[in-house]
Amino acid sequence: MICIGLEGTAEKTGVGVVTSDGEVLFNKTTIYLPPKQGIHPREAADHHAEVFPKLIKEAFEVVDKDEIDLIAFSQGPGLGPCLRVTATAARTLSLALKKPIIGVNHCVSHIEIGKLTTDAEDPLTLYVSGGNTQVIAYVSNKYRVFGETLDIAIGNCLDQFARFCNLPHPGGPYVEKLAEKGEKLIDLPYTVKGMDISFSGLLTSAMRSYESGERLEDVCFSLQEVAFSMLTEITERALAHTNKPEVMLVGGVAVNNRLREMLKIMSEEQNVDFYVPEKQFCGDNGAMIAWLGILQYINGKRMALEETRIIPNYRTDMVEVNWIKEMPK
Ligand code: ATP
Ligand code: FE2
Repeated sequence: MICIGLEGTAEKTGVGVVTSDGEVLFNKTTIYLPPKQGIHPREAADHHAEVFPKLIKEAFEVVDKDEIDLIAFSQGPGLGPCLRVTATAARTLSLALKKPIIGVNHCVSHIEIGKLTTDAEDPLTLYVSGGNTQVIAYVSNKYRVFGETLDIAIGNCLDQFARFCNLPHPGGPYVEKLAEKGEKLIDLPYTVKGMDISFSGLLTSAMRSYESGERLEDVCFSLQEVAFSMLTEITERALAHTNKPEVMLVGGVAVNNRLREMLKIMSEEQNVDFYVPEKQFCGDNGAMIAWLGILQYINGKRMALEETRIIPNYRTDMVEVNWIKEMPK
């Protein structure tokens, strides 16, 4: 079976085509870069409306449209206007090709594409992106959230700091580059509350440090060290709770080398394997949506058109997991 997946929860537009054997035949993502700083949900949605037809056409040059058996799309969580355009594109495809449609959870898609493209089987996942920061594990028939941010996501924290310092959007890669030249660890607030974390105080303090004349390289370095230590701490604690044999890092921020290094060291110390998918499968992409669509469909999930309404705050633990047959030990 072949599935085409449409991703459009925020500013990235992605189309992927995946087979039920897990082969990725097509996977292309474009990003909406606002002319002025900050993303306006409606402008990002307009971008999706413009780009989806082009990407879908490109996908059909690789896989004939008659070979498609299933249409999957990101049903949530995400920005309302963006999700609506994505769902509309998916419904249109489903009606035009006369093929079934299935709406999937974006966060769980990140985990499943990670499992498909690495050797991870039953990982504790740290999912870090512009909109989400969660520590997730599969326990008792659900993907459960063991820890998360109480305010902004880590990617958003890095992007907001970068914007404040007039660096381009998305700021994460620029902060990483500058941090490599940092030498001094500035005292910034470290906020872990039980299994949860908070980044807003850290962000404000980093901005104040930069304003007060600290070198940008040193502030970026310190911001990363503190934020990533917080993430590593809650991941380590969740590992103790869940006893999972593996740690997996996914989401757009997962490409960051310093974060990878910290989690790898922690995983080695805890005697568990550590996995990160290749870059195209870390950030938002259409292949992950297609793959979760396949997993759910071949295990019996069906969705009527009326059930394809968007779910802007679709939580990870709301997903009925029908594709994991038995609890791996
Ligand atoms: P989601 O909808 O899952 O929240 P998203 O829309 O934020 O995803 P992603 O591609 O998953 O999209 O993540 C984008 C984020 O990743 C941005 O905040 C960006 O700054 C961050 N990022 C990208 N590269 C790096 C890097 N090298 N270091 C740190 N952060 C990075
Ligand atoms: Fe994402």
